[in-house]
Amino acid sequence: MKPSSVARIDDHYRDLGGRFAVTEDPSFATLVVPNGNHSRPFHRWFRQKESFSADLVSAVLGRWRDGAGGDVFLDPFAGSGTALLAASDSQLGSKPLFAASYGVEANPFLHFVGATKIAARAHGAPGLAGLARDVVRDVRLNRVDPAPIPGLSSFANSGYFPPSDLRRLLQLRAAIDESGVEGTTRSVAHLCLSACLEPVSALRRDGRALRYEPAKVRAHPVEEFERRIEIAVDDLAIRAGVGASDLILGDGRRIDEVIPRSKSISVAVFSPPYLNNIDYTEVYKLEAWFLGFYRDHRAFRQQRLQTLRSHPSVRFPEVYGLSANGHKREFDSLIEPLLRTIPNNRYKVWREPLFRGYFDDMLETLAGIRKRLEPGGLVVYVVGNSLHGTSKRPLLVASDLLIAGLSELVGFDVVEIVIGRRPTRRSGGTLLRESVVALKPQAS
Ligand SMILES: C[S@@+](CC[C@H](N)C(=O)[O-])C[C@H]1O[C@@H](n2cnc3c(N)ncnc32)[C@H](O)[C@@H]1O
Repeated sequence: MKPSSVARIDDHYRDLGGRFAVTEDPSFATLVVPNGNHSRPFHRWFRQKESFSADLVSAVLGRWRDGAGGDVFLDPFAGSGTALLAASDSQLGSKPLFAASYGVEANPFLHFVGATKIAARAHGAPGLAGLARDVVRDVRLNRVDPAPIPGLSSFANSGYFPPSDLRRLLQLRAAIDESGVEGTTRSVAHLCLSACLEPVSALRRDGRALRYEPAKVRAHPVEEFERRIEIAVDDLAIRAGVGASDLILGDGRRIDEVIPRSKSISVAVFSPPYLNNIDYTEVYKLEAWFLGFYRDHRAFRQQRLQTLRSHPSVRFPEVYGLSANGHKREFDSLIEPLLRTIPNNRYKVWREPLFRGYFDDMLETLAGIRKRLEPGGLVVYVVGNSLHGTSKRPLLVASDLLIAGLSELVGFDVVEIVIGRRPTRRSGGTLLRESVVALKPQAS
């Protein structure tokens, strides 16, 4: 017999699913993952493994907007800028599809990656090849003192970074800094160098953690840097008209405060952090510490607290916005059946506020976008449902349905939920999936 709370959540998901147009389209399977980005100019400069494909934006516009763009494009969880770059690169005839594209990203390193790609795409990076040549020469001749070792303990672990390789990486860093080259060119050199860290180390990004793999075939620091610079130089030779775009370091839950007041959003496409315990601050910590984005451990912890409440790396303040104030009754009737299903064990004390916080954050995000959406605008989110609990007591969070339900509270109609991909592992049932959900503003 299933416990009654589990039976109730199954019914709840069935009722919710029955209210929406839920379809399945395998052509989205390769679009909700970073398929193709590794060989695309600019996108290939840094691999954010949680990205979606650069082709997603045109597929979304094709399916729900007859291919049309608009004035303003937005991605409030922009990561390394995939959607922003794709939107600002898209053209209709000789005109950009969007007059302006805005992105918001909270992680300082990922923001740096996206902003650097966008600036380089728009304005180039003059002198990059020459800078790299000088830097590599000086490092090979041992003419440069290494930059100080970053304060993160992973850099002091000689199993993760053999000292001679770490020294080379830090010499490259110092040589770039001392070159006197500023602006986008210097940023592209820093980006290429930061992209060498994982390949040079014995660590591998694996889900929510960096895994130590002593037998990993590691890249050579200087050669890897040269290889990445060459790719960047090749990509920078491609010239094309691009729309204006701006990636802002900030909080995607507060769109109203971050994008200019005069702008109304035509199309928003985004993938928020999933409720799957991935802490982006942790996953991209090597690069962020190496480039000096955190002064100390206090700043590092502070960064975790800025992120969406999707992971238990920190105890987030139990502060709730619209879910407690304004939409409490409807929010509770949507989310309480899930909260009641959380097993009563030692994890419940952090799981319950985390789940509540996640959906409160999503409600704030949707409300912020809705407030600034133009009539006839389109909002599309990509989200994966997640499986928590144990094999005996699985706890499935159907974020695609629950967020769709929340969107109705703040003035959206759910146009369609397209199931794009189902993970290969069997447990979790049919609801374990990644979906692409389209919303339009309710007619007023
Ligand atoms: C699924 S990833 C998005 C990846 C992006 N679509 C791409 O293709 O590069 C979610 C992103 O949300 C960011 N994030 C987390 N909390 C945020 C917040 N409060 N505001 C803005 N971005 C946030 C994470 O750092 C992460 O980069």
